[in-house]
Amino acid sequence: MSFDVRPVKDLDEFTSAIFAIGQYFGMVPTEERMQRFADLVGLDRMHAAWSDRAVVGGAGAFTFNVTVPGGDLPTAGVTVVGVYPTHRRRGVLRSLMRAQLDDAHERGEPLAALWASEETIYGRFGYGLASYCGEIKLAHEYTSFAQTFERAGTIRIIEPDEAKEIVPPVFERARLQWPGMFSRSPLWWEQREISDPEERRDGAGPKRWVVYEHEGSVDGYATYRHKPGWDEGSTVAELRVVEALAATPVAERGLWAYLLSIDWKATLTAQLLPPDHALFLLLATPRRMRYRMGDSLWVRLVDVGAALSGRKYSADGSIVFDVRDEFCPWNEGRWKLEDGAAARTEDDADLALTAQSLASAYLGGISFAALARAGRVEELQDGALARADGMFRWDRHPWCPEIF
Ligand SMILES: CC(C)(COP(=O)(O)OP(=O)(O)OC[C@H]1O[C@@H](n2cnc3c(N)ncnc32)[C@H](O)[C@@H]1OP(=O)(O)O)[C@@H](O)C(=O)NCCC(=O)NCCS
Repeated sequence: MSFDVRPVKDLDEFTSAIFAIGQYFGMVPTEERMQRFADLVGLDRMHAAWSDRAVVGGAGAFTFNVTVPGGDLPTAGVTVVGVYPTHRRRGVLRSLMRAQLDDAHERGEPLAALWASEETIYGRFGYGLASYCGEIKLAHEYTSFAQTFERAGTIRIIEPDEAKEIVPPVFERARLQWPGMFSRSPLWWEQREISDPEERRDGAGPKRWVVYEHEGSVDGYATYRHKPGWDEGSTVAELRVVEALAATPVAERGLWAYLLSIDWKATLTAQLLPPDHALFLLLATPRRMRYRMGDSLWVRLVDVGAALSGRKYSADGSIVFDVRDEFCPWNEGRWKLEDGAAARTEDDADLALTAQSLASAYLGGISFAALARAGRVEELQDGALARADGMFRWDRHPWCPEIF
């Protein structure tokens, strides 16, 4: 069954489309809240599916850039995907995904990316798991560093108004070093980072902001919340690190030294940290973080040629992929990647794989060798897996510090 799908025309339609997912969150769609979100997404990027003139599903996409190894590409940031429970499993999602990916393709976006509520949903539409992240819960008595280091720079507590001015440039410097981070518009900073309504605090206090300054430059920042608590006379308070990013390694160490040292907490918690986060090598007892890993960003190569040509590679060389892509057939066929650029070719293929598997390897976070071990890539020429991995690997795991 296919459904009529088109972008919404006004705030009423937008609200119905958002409510497709919002109802699962217990959302109360006030006009003010809907307007704020509509300003961020844009009506033209909120698709709704109709049945008998009623909205039965919705899917939105933010318009932003996502960093890839050595680059920064326009990306459809897929969000608020939902289908009314009255119409589940009749193809509403499939119709929405069709319209949304066609739209991204027409806009010339080489990539689409998302966070998946369930891992079983998006693979069939060509999204590949491209990175991992994890959460930590570290007891205060285990916050010592393995090595002492000389403190350089200072930490300063700032008010949100100042954060709005001085934090975005640091974020941008950090972002461009890590594949997987999306760009934040001034409106995004205002609404999603600086604004701190009660309903986002989950029982904790307001966001506190600090910056790390060194030789006259703001090189890092952190934002966190205190969640106070007592049990039998002792503190069970939690320090929730919302985000801590730095543009230099010295700033990263300085920031974490500060966060770990904050008194009167029983635990420090943080989420969405990459598996190669600095804390693993900074802490004396990293096991005590009780790092629990799951999937992070899922990536879709909307345009295989533009996506492959839009990142940098760690080694010279050439490789021919035979790509299968049922959902976006314009990507099907053989692609030769050589001198950092991809083009159609008649040459014999080195690796055969789906667009989904290629997307998994794309950010450099998951190797072709690992994909092959899972039966997701076929090596057609000896040594092709190692060659491809030599080219695609990057010096750090992709990191997306925020769910969008
Ligand atoms: C997930 C959701 C959007 C699916 O919508 P839907 O209209 O029922 O999906 P469709 O009927 O178009 O199904 C398309 C395919 O995906 C499969 N599928 C859909 N949801 C799935 C799920 N949660 N787990 C496994 N498979 C799923 C269907 O079986 C179908 O498979 P097929 O292609 O082999 O036939 C809907 O169930 C929903 O709104 N869930 C709650 C909110 C949510 O999780 N949103 C996603 C946010 S990231």
